[in-house]
Amino acid sequence: MSVQNELRSTIQDLVQPGKGILAADESHPTIAKRFKAVNVEPTEDKRREYRSLIFSTPGLGEFISGVILFEETLGQNSLDNLPMAKLLESQGIVPGIKVDKGKKSLINAPGDEITYGLDGLDDRLEAYKNQGARFAKWRGVYNIADTLPSRAAMEANAEMLARYAALCQSMGIVPIVEPEVLIDGDHTIERSAQVNESVIAEVFNALRRHRVQLESIILKPSMVTPGKACAKASPEAVAEATLRVFRNVVPAAVPGISFLSGGQTPEEATLNLNALNSLGQLPWHLSFSYGRALQEPAQKAWAGNLNNSSETQSAMLKRARLNGLATKGQYAPDMED
Ligand code: 13P
Repeated sequence: MSVQNELRSTIQDLVQPGKGILAADESHPTIAKRFKAVNVEPTEDKRREYRSLIFSTPGLGEFISGVILFEETLGQNSLDNLPMAKLLESQGIVPGIKVDKGKKSLINAPGDEITYGLDGLDDRLEAYKNQGARFAKWRGVYNIADTLPSRAAMEANAEMLARYAALCQSMGIVPIVEPEVLIDGDHTIERSAQVNESVIAEVFNALRRHRVQLESIILKPSMVTPGKACAKASPEAVAEATLRVFRNVVPAAVPGISFLSGGQTPEEATLNLNALNSLGQLPWHLSFSYGRALQEPAQKAWAGNLNNSSETQSAMLKRARLNGLATKGQYAPDMED
């Protein structure tokens, strides 16, 4: 298949009404934190057991179009001894891969961070593609404070995201472009809107500079919410503030916007997505690419014990199904019961 056809068909498979993406690409330290919360040792085998279990949830492909994997998982076999990418394909789910190497402090910009991982990325992408990955993810991270993020951080992270996206597309891999504006802090929803708007505008400047085809990316942003230390805003207020920003800075050529959950509770993330999809016609398909908000209940149900397999898979399917409904504005809180 030509690179163009590969990109087109992967976008078609990923961006579908009623479906979203499962982010199961936690790095070792992050998954260790999640496992600690349910008293599980973060060994390679436990990671394999847990991820194999959720990926084989019967019916998952009805609501999940793609799964983002961590490098280790792409090389592992499922509990039934299938390569994980094959297991996902058998569910009608597209395998994807997180390709950034994580963040570090941005030198000379106290409080700002920059994501690493461009060196050698072409060789890694080729290997991931041979293992079955058809899309990728790179996360840039921005802290909010009165003077953060700095212009240097916005420009540097946008440049990384654009170079990664251009490289992915040249190899027929769809890039998920993730500028995550963190929820930590006591900033207002207005301040969050201001920062998200500047950050996303800068990302699209860089994408254009590097001639990235906007119709073959998925944007993975934060929702515009007040900081975690502030009173919560209603789903309607979050939806209204988020769309106001996106209408200003996200070109209509972008096929899909898949939000991260960023520390929202599972129910909150579903409610907010539903509110976003209740505001009428939009140029982009608005969906989810949640990590915590999809997996928390499944991790609690599993608690490291395969005897809890059916409860684990039910919990996984429930959040996938409810978020699937939220992509169509058809979710109601009483469906939680
Ligand atoms: P959360 O939904 O838990 O924020 O994770 C999504 C993700 O992929 C962050 O990079």
